[in-house]
Amino acid sequence: MENKVDHFAHKSKSWDMSSRRVQNAKGIAGLIVKNIKLDKSMELMDFGAGTGLLSYFVAPFVKKIVAVDNSPSMLVEFENKCDEFSCETEVIEKDLSTETLDRNFDGIISSMTIHHLEDTAALLSKLYGMLNDGGFVAIADLDSEDGSFHSDNTGVFHYGFDRHLLAEYAQEAGFKDVTFSLASTINKPHADFTVFLMTAVK
Ligand SMILES: C[S@@+](CC[C@H](N)C(=O)[O-])C[C@H]1O[C@@H](n2cnc3c(N)ncnc32)[C@H](O)[C@@H]1O
Repeated sequence: MENKVDHFAHKSKSWDMSSRRVQNAKGIAGLIVKNIKLDKSMELMDFGAGTGLLSYFVAPFVKKIVAVDNSPSMLVEFENKCDEFSCETEVIEKDLSTETLDRNFDGIISSMTIHHLEDTAALLSKLYGMLNDGGFVAIADLDSEDGSFHSDNTGVFHYGFDRHLLAEYAQEAGFKDVTFSLASTINKPHADFTVFLMTAVK
């Protein structure tokens, strides 16, 4: 049987203790809420939901969030606080680089996850296939960086993203109205890193 490595096992318990992470997720969620018409009938997937930082801030505006992640340890932290989310939640352990999920959503949100998947074009096609007609994606991640964002780049396939290239992948997958905005800036002692939000519709 294949041995699955949980790259986040040693970080999951302390993940939410970083105010930088919480502020980043809050900034991304604020922009999602501002740019996308959410409503209380909607079921969203949070791809790479981790401990649920992004889900937490989007929850008051939707009916349900399905947290999809391949890290059991991060999902335990999500489940531990699901009483605090202002919407229904469901947790699904799944690796979307190798597996599929036979579900459909009104929207897919994601923060700081897609740099962990090697084949971005394939991922965007997969996400497109999981959306209802008219559904949206709102994906936040790092703009291109020099590889110094993570202290350890294990499990990191992309040092951020070139927005033009990502837009091309999204359009090739079938997405329309691909739009980028600046979601937040993460200030680390050695450098500042910008985070984009890409939104697009099916
Ligand atoms: C940097 S964390 C971000 C967590 C959360 N979105 C946040 O903003 O705090 C990346 C998350 O993506 C998940 N992830 C990485 N590769 C994945 C894959 N192939 N399928 C599903 N989840 C994945 C990790 O387990 C981790 O929880």
